[in-house]
Amino acid sequence: MTILTRAALLLACACSLLAACASAPASLADYPPMPAGAAPGASTPAIETARAMGRGVNFGNIFDAPTEGAWGLRFDATLVAKAAEAGFTNARLPVRWSNHASADGEARIDPEFFKRVDEAVDALLDKGFIVVLNMHHYRQLDGDALDGGEAPVADGLHALRFLNMWKQIAQHYSTRGPKLVFELYNEPHGAQTTRWNDLAARGLQVVRRSNPTRIVIIGPTQWNSANALASLVLPNDANLIVTVHHYEPFHFTHQGAEWASGAAAWLGTPCCDAAQLAQMRGPLDTALAWSLRHRYPIYLGEFGAYGKAEMGARVTYTRRMRDEAERRGFSWAYWELASGFGVYDPAAREWREPLKNALLGP
Ligand code: BGC
Repeated sequence: MTILTRAALLLACACSLLAACASAPASLADYPPMPAGAAPGASTPAIETARAMGRGVNFGNIFDAPTEGAWGLRFDATLVAKAAEAGFTNARLPVRWSNHASADGEARIDPEFFKRVDEAVDALLDKGFIVVLNMHHYRQLDGDALDGGEAPVADGLHALRFLNMWKQIAQHYSTRGPKLVFELYNEPHGAQTTRWNDLAARGLQVVRRSNPTRIVIIGPTQWNSANALASLVLPNDANLIVTVHHYEPFHFTHQGAEWASGAAAWLGTPCCDAAQLAQMRGPLDTALAWSLRHRYPIYLGEFGAYGKAEMGARVTYTRRMRDEAERRGFSWAYWELASGFGVYDPAAREWREPLKNALLGP
C-alpha cells in the first residue's frame, strides 16, 4: 500500500467516524457566489430553448400549494395529456419545496415528495414539453407571513436552506434531458430585494456543480417585475434565460382575488382601453430593451386574469397579451391551467374554449 493510499484510507475512516465529511455544508461560506457583473449574453442553446418554449401554461396551484390538494387541485396525468393535445409547448411547474424539507439548515427534501414531483416532471417530459421546474413560495425567504401548516424556521437559515434544497433538486434531476429547465426562484421580493443578486449567484453555482450546462431561468425582484430588471445582476453564465411576470392592469386581472387586498372593490373592471393597453405594453417594452442590451432572451412566465373578471374581457386581455409577447419574440406561460385563472375546467373536464382560443387559436 502506498503512502498516498494509506492517507486516503485514514481520511475516509476519520470522515466516517466524525460523520462531518458526509454531512451537508454548514454555512454560506460553503456556497460561494459565481462571479457576476460580466454576463456574456445567452448561448445558442439558451436562445434556441427560449424559442422552442413557445406557448406554455403554468401547472399552478398544485405543488405550490402548502401541500398538494390544499388549494383544490392535485396532479393528474390527464392534465398533461390535455395540455399537450391543446398545443402548449412549455409547462411551468411551480413547487413549494420548503414545505417538504426539514426545518434545519440542511433542508432534507422528503423522498416521497420528490417521487410525486418526479411523476409530474416525467409525464410532462414524456409528452415533449419543455418543463420549467422552479422553487415557489418559500415565504420565509422573502420575510412573508407563513401559510397554514408551514413550519417556522430559525432566522438566518433561509439562504442556506435555499441552497441546500437546490443542491438536492439539481442532483436529483441532473440526468434528465435538456428539455428540463430550472428556474431558481419565483417572484423574489421583500427581504430578497437587496439580497437576491447574491443569492441567485450562489444558487446558480450550486446548480452548476451537478448540471454544468442546463438552461436556468432567473428573474428580477419586485415579484419578477420588468421594472426591476435594471437592478438584476446576472452571474457570468451564458446558459440563462431571464423571466418576467406581468399582471397589469392589476385591478382588472386581480378583481375579486381573495389574496389581493382591496380586490373586492375592483369587481366589474373591464379591459382593455387605451390606458390599460399602455399599462400592458410598457413593461414588455422595458423587458425587450433590457433583453436587446444584455443579450438574454425573455420568458414571460406568468400573466393572466382571475376567473371573477368577465369572460369576454378576459379573452380580449389574454389574446392581446399573447400577441404583444410574441411580437417582441418572448416565449410565455399563461397563469394557469386548471384553477382560479384556469383555461381548463377540471370539474367539467373541458376547456374554456374562448380562453384557450385566445392563447392558442389562429
Ligand atoms: C402566485 C399565485 C397567484 C398568482 C397570481 C403567482 O405567482 O404564485 O399564487 O395566484 O401569482 O396572483
